[in-house]
Amino acid sequence: MAAGFKLLVSVNIAFLTVCGNLVSGQRSFSIDYKNNCFLRDEKPFRYISGSIHYSRIPQYYWQDRLVKMYMAGLNAIQVYVPWNFHETVQGVYNFTSDRDLDRFLDLANKTGLLVILRPGPYICAEWEMGGLPAWLLQKPNIILRSADTDYLQAVSNWFGVLLPKIKPWLYINGGNVITVQVENEYGSYFACDYDYLRHLRALFRSFLGDAVVLFTTDGNTDKELACGTLEGLYATVDFGTNDNVTEAFRRQRRFEPRGPLVNSEFYTGWLDHWGDRHAGVDALKVSRVLGEMLTAGANVNMYMFEGGTNFGYWNGADHDTRFRSVVTSYDYDAPLSEAGDPTEKLLAIRDVIKQFQDIPLGPMPPATPKFAYGFVKLTKVGDISSLLNTFSPLGPVESPYPLMFEEMKQYYGFMLYRTTLPRDLSQPTPLISPLNGIHDRAYVSVNGVFRGLLERDTVLVMNITGQQGDTVDVLIENMGRVNFGSKINDYKGLLSNLILGADVLTGWRIYSLDIDGVIAAGWPHSEGAESFPTPQDQLTRGPAFYTGTLQPNGIAWDTFLKLEDWVKGQVWINGMNLGRYWPARGPQQTLYVPGPLLSATMPNIITVLELEGAPAHLRALFMGQPQLNATAGKS
Ligand SMILES: *[C@@H]1O[C@H](CO)[C@@H](O)[C@H](O)[C@H]1NC(C)=O
Ligand SMILES: *[C@@H]1O[C@H](CO)[C@@H](O)[C@H](O)[C@H]1NC(C)=O
Ligand SMILES: *[C@@H]1O[C@H](CO)[C@@H](O)[C@H](O)[C@H]1NC(C)=O
Ligand SMILES: *[C@@H]1O[C@H](CO)[C@@H](O)[C@H](O)[C@H]1NC(C)=O
Ligand SMILES: *[C@@H]1O[C@H](CO)[C@@H](O)[C@H](O)[C@H]1NC(C)=O
Repeated sequence: MAAGFKLLVSVNIAFLTVCGNLVSGQRSFSIDYKNNCFLRDEKPFRYISGSIHYSRIPQYYWQDRLVKMYMAGLNAIQVYVPWNFHETVQGVYNFTSDRDLDRFLDLANKTGLLVILRPGPYICAEWEMGGLPAWLLQKPNIILRSADTDYLQAVSNWFGVLLPKIKPWLYINGGNVITVQVENEYGSYFACDYDYLRHLRALFRSFLGDAVVLFTTDGNTDKELACGTLEGLYATVDFGTNDNVTEAFRRQRRFEPRGPLVNSEFYTGWLDHWGDRHAGVDALKVSRVLGEMLTAGANVNMYMFEGGTNFGYWNGADHDTRFRSVVTSYDYDAPLSEAGDPTEKLLAIRDVIKQFQDIPLGPMPPATPKFAYGFVKLTKVGDISSLLNTFSPLGPVESPYPLMFEEMKQYYGFMLYRTTLPRDLSQPTPLISPLNGIHDRAYVSVNGVFRGLLERDTVLVMNITGQQGDTVDVLIENMGRVNFGSKINDYKGLLSNLILGADVLTGWRIYSLDIDGVIAAGWPHSEGAESFPTPQDQLTRGPAFYTGTLQPNGIAWDTFLKLEDWVKGQVWINGMNLGRYWPARGPQQTLYVPGPLLSATMPNIITVLELEGAPAHLRALFMGQPQLNATAGKS
């Protein structure tokens, strides 16, 4: 520690001698290789930064979160740009509302925060497909994150739109973006393709110019640093509280013998997967290791500082030994909670920062108010199989063999595959996915009666019975594409044939389902019905829609939705997709509902797609606090 402190002092002395004879009104941001630091306007500069993802926070809360980060003592934020969030359809770009990157950068600038920008194109981030658009998979043999021609062409087109928007935000051009990251942890990827990195470097340079500091970030091993770094891109590392600070920075030094020490991702917490234990990192450990790094004179970005939420279908997944999908909450056990509330961890971090730089005067803004609205009764609208005219107005695509989501040009959510039983099955007969081709869950019914499910990597066989000609419906759920490692070409749907006894099932009618579009347009209440008759039979089994209204009470505050005793599904409020719920697996039990989504004066419409079985009580509960840590339970 003492040695590190001396380093910091010597930097400051160097700054006096270097800067004494400088006259400069020019804005600049660069690397001082002589004194091992960044230079901002020719003065030594060190950032203490935190990660925040605008794509995980509704825009009406951006400013609130940014002000809290500023008040915590940060002088910078680190931000990913998820390509698939902006170019959901190839060639169609969306930078409005919750995707308004300019507005986010402007709010940060007005708050007094500098920006470390991470435009990818790949970002990982536990985000669907690591930020890559799923339409890239229409080229069946595409090698993502490599010099593959089709991939590079798509990247060039995207950067031709994105980077010109970034250019005016560069610090040197009057904005707040001080550094820009190229790719992300590229050294962890099998391809290790320097042509790809060279191509990216050229693209960044051609759009952003030669002056901006470009950098890479890699895991803290020699192999990762070897494949992830390139001349002209400043090499930084990432590591958490379990790593030895001295040794971690020594590894950065092997690749950057001079220049600032940078930990680009210092992990304040960790993510959760469905079915796993709730993750957390101790606040004392975080503040102690942060102190060690700052004492060593290092620049630190805390990943995450504000985690937010994987709304809709935006969660990613891992695939190491098996497919594991990331939960809806991205709370991350971060210093600001999912709902943007300051935690003990934030206060501990602020106390450390205070020892190294001035922090803003004044109190930390308080938590936003929360409200426990209580129970809402839902009623059944109908089974998904009986609503295909509503969700798939163009009707099915017919194909002898199953088509994948990507072939159907539907990239997220749910699709329904329908065929008929080829013969009588009086005895339970195995329905098998022999090649583990269900990505990711299949809900199977025969003549509208739910028979069970198949699940990628875990449940590859179930039994069914029935008679020749009976309708077989297989609803497939895409649980989010793999965001890390060699398996990111994560096609969805039925990837291979289903086998029933000795027969290959053929003659499919495949329904694309625009559930989100239909619900955003007001369904089911736009049908005119105020309440829906609940058929007494088949009330509780299989994929079906339920709806109800949260009556206005003059309050529109943040709240947390608990679907206790429900099994698994998706939920919308006032047309917005809040994400997946799966209390039966856990650990997450409640979904974050941002207050501004609710109306204080009009009925709030809740729509639930329950996939396996609703409880008899058909109630949803709005609580005043989250539950993210319930031990994985029933199934
Ligand atoms: C663009 O994104 C916003 C925010 O998610 C959304 O409300 C809007 O409908 C999108 N626009 C188009 C044309 O898809
Ligand atoms: C960023 O903020 C600074 C200081 O408030 C201001 O001078 C500058 O014009 C802003 N930059 C942009 C691009 O808005
Ligand atoms: C970290 O490693 C250094 C050098 O290997 C060693 O001297 C130091 O004791 C270690 N620190 C901790 C906290 O283990
Ligand atoms: C989650 O709850 C369990 C059981 O109460 C507890 O042991 C564990 O520390 C909690 N985990 C976190 C991250 O809070
Ligand atoms: C399917 O049925 C057979 C015969 O009744 C039974 O032995 C087998 O355990 C069942 N398999 C499953 C996955 O339910």
